[in-house]
Amino acid sequence: MKHPILRRIPGARQWIEKIERLEGERDRLVRRLAKLNARLESLPEIAPQLARSEYKAVWRELSKTSNSAKWHIGGVDEESWFEVTGLETKEALASTVGIHQNDTVVEIGCGVGRVGKQLAPLCRKWVGCDVSAHMLKLAAQRLKGLGDVELREISGFDLQPLANDSADVVYSTVVFMHLEEWDRYNYVLEAFRVLRPGGRIYVDNVNLCSDLGWEVFEMHRQIPSRERPLHITKHSTKGELETYLERAGFSEIQSRESGQFIQVWGMKRIASSA
Ligand SMILES: C[S@@+](CC[C@H](N)C(=O)[O-])C[C@H]1O[C@@H](n2cnc3c(N)ncnc32)[C@H](O)[C@@H]1O
Repeated sequence: MKHPILRRIPGARQWIEKIERLEGERDRLVRRLAKLNARLESLPEIAPQLARSEYKAVWRELSKTSNSAKWHIGGVDEESWFEVTGLETKEALASTVGIHQNDTVVEIGCGVGRVGKQLAPLCRKWVGCDVSAHMLKLAAQRLKGLGDVELREISGFDLQPLANDSADVVYSTVVFMHLEEWDRYNYVLEAFRVLRPGGRIYVDNVNLCSDLGWEVFEMHRQIPSRERPLHITKHSTKGELETYLERAGFSEIQSRESGQFIQVWGMKRIASSA
């Protein structure tokens, strides 16, 4: 029996449950780290002269094969994971910014279309943007026949192929962790540009201020600095992401914690006629 001493304390049941939940999550993260380390060792080495912000070159390398591309999205390459977590992200978007039938929805860093597969049938048009041409090729295969889908290769710093005031929702999930802070903010500014008045933005990142996010931070701290991969997760805080949205001009900014993530969303205000 685990925690025998705690179990003798009346009323400690809820704490035992919480501890066991955290222990389960810790064990899961430890297993994941072991897998990641094994994977790291087998990776083709990225030229050491590359910088983290050379996103196109970094992600070209990481997405060279289908398995490697999928691995660098979720740390797994099993299809069932893409299906289940794609549905979870769809729910997260539906319950924050909402996804409606007439919406043009843009994803920044769409990867292999994990989320696009769930959203494309629900909206008027889904536009997947990514810095990696190979990710986009895999997304095209996954999204074949699923409604109005457009895939755009972008520079890694802006949404240049998209026109002003052309989208109803812009979101980015599991991408900000790989970007420098300035480049995160640039995408928020770009989202403001391409959204129509009344349009909604959603972004997320691993949350430095949550227990689960902190565990990820601690695990990465154990990796010697010279061995840290260029795309290693760098966290955000609620304050950081809310500040980007606020500074870019968004209003009705809200946020919530979800597991190891912090999710932030807001709206591009409709200009008053006065
Ligand atoms: C962890 S994957 C997440 C993919 C997708 N958002 C999902 O949740 O399934 C990160 C993706 O961001 C893309 N990416 C990395 N840096 C980028 C940048 N600067 N601009 C646009 N996309 C980027 C990568 O090519 C990759 O497809």
